[in-house]
Amino acid sequence: MTIYSRIRGTGSYLPERVVTNAELEALVDTSDQWIRERTGIAERHVVAEGEGCGDIATRAAEAALDAAGLTAADIDLLVLATSTPDQIFPSTACLVQQRLGMRGGAIAFDIAAACSGFIFALDTADRFIRTGGARRALVIGAETFSRILNWEDRGTCVIFGDGAGAVVLERSDRPGILSSHLHTDGRQEPLLNVPWGVSQGSEALLRDPLAGKVTMRGNEVFKVAVRTLGAVVEEVLQANDLEYGAIDWLVPHQANIRIMAATARKLGLPMERVVVTVDRHGNTSAASIPLALDVAVRDGRIRPGQLLLLEAFGAGFTWGATLVRY
Ligand code: UT7
Repeated sequence: MTIYSRIRGTGSYLPERVVTNAELEALVDTSDQWIRERTGIAERHVVAEGEGCGDIATRAAEAALDAAGLTAADIDLLVLATSTPDQIFPSTACLVQQRLGMRGGAIAFDIAAACSGFIFALDTADRFIRTGGARRALVIGAETFSRILNWEDRGTCVIFGDGAGAVVLERSDRPGILSSHLHTDGRQEPLLNVPWGVSQGSEALLRDPLAGKVTMRGNEVFKVAVRTLGAVVEEVLQANDLEYGAIDWLVPHQANIRIMAATARKLGLPMERVVVTVDRHGNTSAASIPLALDVAVRDGRIRPGQLLLLEAFGAGFTWGATLVRY
């Protein structure tokens, strides 16, 4: 018997505080019209003082467990994708494991692949399940990008938001995750990065606090993203012998409405078959796909048996796509 993994439940959490484009007009030289037209974003959520990545990840995981009709005791693997962990170590996955009350001895670790993190985490969990290393997994994407934004840089501070999404993945004899396609190319790393890390020491950060903040050459990233996502969705269609238009729902990383529209065109899909949350969530990096998935599952658009294509592109560069029978 072939072993597969299937999504059994989804959940998400958004911090209470909403920051509108109008609020950002007061911070930087921008306009609601520019942000809407160039990105599709109207508002985003931002964590409260003292609210961390592990907190919002835990809320999303609890919602996913609830939807699956399971408890933390049923989970033997937790994979958490983030670029904004609470601590250097242990991983945020360890913090979430204890907060959820998961069994000690269950596997929990973080994955860092920037905005593609959820796709990388989902593939990792799928491989654990298919090879018998785990039976049920929580796969989480959680980010607090508001903490690493330069709020004086209009090229980045209008784009990102905070949030968390999660899925429960379970061993099954029916196909769920059908194929995953991951890629990395570090050669253009300076186009999108946070050019500081602990190995540089805190003195470096004291000399230049902006070293700890996101930098992005947006237009250059945009062009690579459109080209690369077009290629990876083509790769999925070919690998699975699928016609254009065969996908029921495109659930893309929510970076920019224009990037999503270009990928939908490539797949022969109208925008009515693309799950769009960028207008209300902004770009929540590794959290954006599970957030969008949860929204469309809960509002009834995504139904059992449908074919979903999840795709993401992010810093690294990292990119990937996953074909899912929901
Ligand atoms: O999630 C991971 C990967 N990230 C992405 O995929 C993001 C990809 N990039 C983008 O989404 C877009 O490139 C941006 C939304 C970041 C920028 O849009 P763009 O259409 O590429 O604009 P641009 O950078 O070419 O800038 C056009 C103009 C510039 O002014 P000038 O030089 O033409 O006078 C910018 O200075 O828009 C200006 N600009 C702004 N104006 C108002 C840049 N940011 C803003 C802003 N408000 N927030």
